[in-house]
Amino acid sequence: MDIIRVKNYQTMSEKACGYLVDKIQAAQKPVLGLATGSTPEGLYKQLIEKYQEGAVSFKDVSTFNLDEYVGLERKDPNSYHYYMNEKLFKHVDLSIENVHLPNGAAGDLQQECRDYEASIKQAGDVDVQILGLGLNGHIGFNEPGTPFSSRTHVVDLDESTREANARFFESKADVPTQAITMGIESIMESKEIVLLVSGAKKAEALARLINGEISEDFPASVLKQHPQVTIIADEEACVHI
Ligand code: GLP
Repeated sequence: MDIIRVKNYQTMSEKACGYLVDKIQAAQKPVLGLATGSTPEGLYKQLIEKYQEGAVSFKDVSTFNLDEYVGLERKDPNSYHYYMNEKLFKHVDLSIENVHLPNGAAGDLQQECRDYEASIKQAGDVDVQILGLGLNGHIGFNEPGTPFSSRTHVVDLDESTREANARFFESKADVPTQAITMGIESIMESKEIVLLVSGAKKAEALARLINGEISEDFPASVLKQHPQVTIIADEEACVHI
């Protein structure tokens, strides 16, 4: 794993944006794996700016998001569909048919998971997967204990994850109890992975990732087995490494 240490959230976002823009320009049909949460918001703002400056186009780009809450319709302001649309998709020239997120409101969730896997394969796998880091080491919504061999699946969310994400909802009670997430093995099939880590509250998790063992108890540790991982982390997140 390569670690790029940057000063702060802004420089992390700029660095990640430069990285993605280079990849988009180098590939004929780039396939991006995208994440939600607070961490990549700055990256998406930067990408919109680059698009508006004419420095990048998304017309040949396909995107696959990591996860979606179960039970939320696409139009629900708390869904990841809505988040992605507001934070990136509606501002750039992505074709709607190239945008993919799991459908958390599907009638048959197991079928939805299989279909999602199939559509990633059909696109030829993800070229660059953006990841954030959960406080408990989760990636996507793969909570501690998830087998490294997992494919896209339905998960019960940890109470700590529901707590951490309650800030996006009116109350914790409104946070869904389940989600669909790309599995760990599905994420590991991405050709490259960029993990973004910002802020003091992630410092312990980052230290455990760098210094700890590879274990299903800390899902992000699997990244040490991937040949092409770049961590972009800011000063506050790097205090323990
Ligand atoms: C969320 C998301 C992840 C995200 C992580 C960190 O629960 N499912 O994809 O990377 O937790 O979130 P944040 O960036 O808000 O700290």
